[in-house]
Amino acid sequence: CSAFRKYLLYSEIAENEGFHGISKLFKAAASSEFYHSKNMFIAAGRYSNTLQNLAESIKTEKSEAEIIYPSNINLTEKEKSLTAVTSYKNALDAEKVHFKLFNEAAEQLKKGNDIPLQKYFICSRCGYMTYGDKQPARCPACGADMFKFIEEK
Ligand code: FE2
Ligand code: FE2
Repeated sequence: CSAFRKYLLYSEIAENEGFHGISKLFKAAASSEFYHSKNMFIAAGRYSNTLQNLAESIKTEKSEAEIIYPSNINLTEKEKSLTAVTSYKNALDAEKVHFKLFNEAAEQLKKGNDIPLQKYFICSRCGYMTYGDKQPARCPACGADMFKFIEEK
């Protein structure tokens, strides 16, 4: 999973540097890594169902929001790594939204319902996620202008 994400980032970097061929190579390698991770996920018995996936995701988001990120914020503040502090603070804000939405989805699913197909907007600067009919004028987490938001398709 981490190779998949890393190669997507490497692809973006190569694209930004104008190396379209290398960017495509990284993207293809990322797809390949995705299928490796999927097969390993299946082998580990973790390719289960949506209710279990929501339960696992809620647990992860809760521990990121309540334990991991606050402790990383403390640590990076002590180290005066301001960029790291900001990245953890912004991620913390987003994890709270994920936690809330996953919880709401789990509640619906327990009643046998799906959730509405709503719009999601992701801040391409900090990763904050909003939802609803339209994107906010500014990112509530990092203050980025609305043109930084990408709608999830
Ligand atoms: Fe999250
Ligand atoms: Fe943002």
